[in-house]
Amino acid sequence: MTARWERRLQLAAHPLLFPLARGLARLGPVVRVPGLGVVVNDAATARAVLTDTGTFSKAAPGAPADLWTPVLGPSVLLNMAGEDHARLRRKLSGLFTPAAVRGLCERVLAGVLAGMTARLAAGEPVDLVAEVRRCAGAVIAELVGLPPDPDRFDAMFARGTEVTAMVRLTRRGLTPPQVARAREVMAELTAPAVTAYRDAAAGTVPGRMRQLGLTEDEARGAVAAFVLTGTETLVSFVPRLVALAHDSGWLARLAADPARTDAVVSEALRYTVPSPVMLRGVAAPGRVGRVPVAPGDRVVIMTLSCARASGSFDPERPHPPELRQLWFGAGAHYCLGMPLALAEIDAILGAVLAAWREAGPLAVRQRRAAARVLIPGYAKLVLARA
Ligand code: HEM
Repeated sequence: MTARWERRLQLAAHPLLFPLARGLARLGPVVRVPGLGVVVNDAATARAVLTDTGTFSKAAPGAPADLWTPVLGPSVLLNMAGEDHARLRRKLSGLFTPAAVRGLCERVLAGVLAGMTARLAAGEPVDLVAEVRRCAGAVIAELVGLPPDPDRFDAMFARGTEVTAMVRLTRRGLTPPQVARAREVMAELTAPAVTAYRDAAAGTVPGRMRQLGLTEDEARGAVAAFVLTGTETLVSFVPRLVALAHDSGWLARLAADPARTDAVVSEALRYTVPSPVMLRGVAAPGRVGRVPVAPGDRVVIMTLSCARASGSFDPERPHPPELRQLWFGAGAHYCLGMPLALAEIDAILGAVLAAWREAGPLAVRQRRAAARVLIPGYAKLVLARA
């Protein structure tokens, strides 16, 4: 059941690429594929690429810079390298300390989630995808400097996914009409951040970025990075986590004893890999495993294949050391929002478990896969009292 639904989600999102990726994973740890790049299927090799920033770069041709620089300019973290990148990350690090993310989640999510727990406990069906969209939207609204307005979150989410859905692994960049449309959408989504930055608005994250010494372009770029990376990953992951835990019997076990929550979350991250591919351009001649590479080559790290090599969903099995947290990346570009992502995941899963403890077992009543999206996930996952 766990494997069947996950396979269905992958196929609905990528009907051709998913079978191709599985086939390539059987061919070896590193495979050169014409038209795609040098594909990495092995965790240790992936980590070696991600931590060798002299040879592999996010700013070299073939890397995410090809996608995002024409849309957002050069300062969006995801398309930066070297000292500029490190400097911007240092300036932003204060936003994601454990205390900062705990405070953010309490401020923004506690009320929304208490409402969800109460509805589930009262026997109402709840679509978890819509709930997570609301939660992730509320957090991003706070980061962008918008007042929390749940009526806008669906529209914001739809705008964000309109941009990410333009990305195709078989093309290195976006087409000129896509660039024009993506610029328009991202300008709209980041406009409140620019206003908050200019006004040095107290209590807003863009206002705080100004205090931290970010230029206006850097603040807008950072906010764009949060919008692109911080919503869809969670809207994909949390319903899949709950579905996996439900289907494998772990939801019942966690409701009785939450001690293994971290292991279940971590194993669900390994099994789903919400950010399933990482790209690098080659900045200097080198090797990926045994395959020689040169500038112009693109390295496609199939994080999903690297993680799935460890087998089926099983929170009792420890992860091998080379895999540790690879789903959040490794090295200089390691997910900046990881503490926030984990805090949001804990808060939402905690609210589901609270309903179970209060009113008895919950069951998945209805579910549907999202079609043709960049990050596989459910379009709908309805939970209700069993
Ligand atoms: C389960 C949820 C998430 C997963 C699995 C995830 C995964 C990742 C991965 C794999 C990378 C590195 C990509 C690479 O090296 O090519 C990354 C980078 C990043 N993530 Fe996350 N992410 C998640 C949630 C978030 C959230 C909630 C935020 C913040 C709002 C966020 C902000 C970022 C940023 C800003 C970067 C770029 C860092 C840099 O390039 O220096 N992520 N994420």
